[in-house]
Amino acid sequence: MPRILITGTSGQLGFELQRALCLFGELRCPGRQRLNLASRQAVLAWLDAERPDVIVNAAAYTAVDQAESEPELAHAINASAPGAMAQWAAANDALLLHYSTDYVFDGSGETAWREDDAARPLSVYGHSKWQGEQAVRAAGCRHFILRTSWVAGVHGSNFAKSMLRLAASKEQLRVVNDQFGTPTPASLLADVSAQLLGRTLQDSEQPYGTYHVASGGCTSWYHYAEYVIGLAREAGWPLALPGDGLLPIPGADYPQQAQRPAYSVLDCSKLQQTFGLRLPGWQQAIHQLFATLDAARRD
Ligand SMILES: NC(=O)c1ccc[n+]([C@@H]2O[C@H](COP(=O)([O-])OP(=O)(O)OC[C@H]3O[C@@H](n4cnc5c(N)ncnc54)[C@H](OP(=O)(O)O)[C@@H]3O)[C@@H](O)[C@H]2O)c1
Repeated sequence: MPRILITGTSGQLGFELQRALCLFGELRCPGRQRLNLASRQAVLAWLDAERPDVIVNAAAYTAVDQAESEPELAHAINASAPGAMAQWAAANDALLLHYSTDYVFDGSGETAWREDDAARPLSVYGHSKWQGEQAVRAAGCRHFILRTSWVAGVHGSNFAKSMLRLAASKEQLRVVNDQFGTPTPASLLADVSAQLLGRTLQDSEQPYGTYHVASGGCTSWYHYAEYVIGLAREAGWPLALPGDGLLPIPGADYPQQAQRPAYSVLDCSKLQQTFGLRLPGWQQAIHQLFATLDAARRD
């Protein structure tokens, strides 16, 4: 039985990975207390002691605005730790699944980003994730880097859950309508990861490398909020927000510490063609996420 390390299991993606990957081997899921990615030495010591066959790195410093004032910590967790994992994997013939972000791109233009488009991150977070990618590639281990966008899971914090919480108590919400991307459920990302891992365990000769993984389509934060709040309204959730209480605003009216890309839609055709997978549209994917939240609310 392969030993599979999953980091970040208290987060959105890591939580789903525990469900999706448990079929493939014996999971090891140390939390931050036992494996702190801020320390490269701690990462290498843990790997030497536990010797996993597969490393699935779902942990990351994801506080995009806070990263602007903690660049060293963001770099340690998002770049140095994955680099150490990749070096260890190369030396020990382990497989590394690592995750990255649409925020490695600058968001210019209106064409979906392909894997080999030039990265030009606008934020410390985006830069640290890009450095993490480069460190993984440089190590020469067998790896998949899955770049994704606007992750939303049942477990953990995300935009959809924030909008539902705010709509329950506020009579007006102002949401940015000039940044475009694609909401992607953590469960979808975990299921794609399971597909790739399953294939690799059957046959270690795989087209490793970097792949974009997101739902289909594109939306703005405003239309995303409108969709999720609409689902809650239809399902009879008690909302303080009236039907005309959601207001579209330009990003310039909602200043944040970190700059976000204006258009970060990912072109996922490489993954779909290489592995014969179909990625659902974002509305279908978010509808499923909402159904789970709705069922939990009714219990
Ligand atoms: N969220 C998004 O919208 C988004 C978009 C694009 C790409 N991604 C990428 O997708 C991946 C998964 O993101 P996510 O949304 O699941 O993240 P998340 O919900 O914010 O979870 C992050 C996880 O990392 C752990 N972590 C943070 N610092 C750590 C440290 N020093 N040592 C050990 N563990 C640490 C957290 O543990 P604690 O509970 O202890 O803090 C948590 O389990 C990441 O690579 C992220 O960059 C996310």
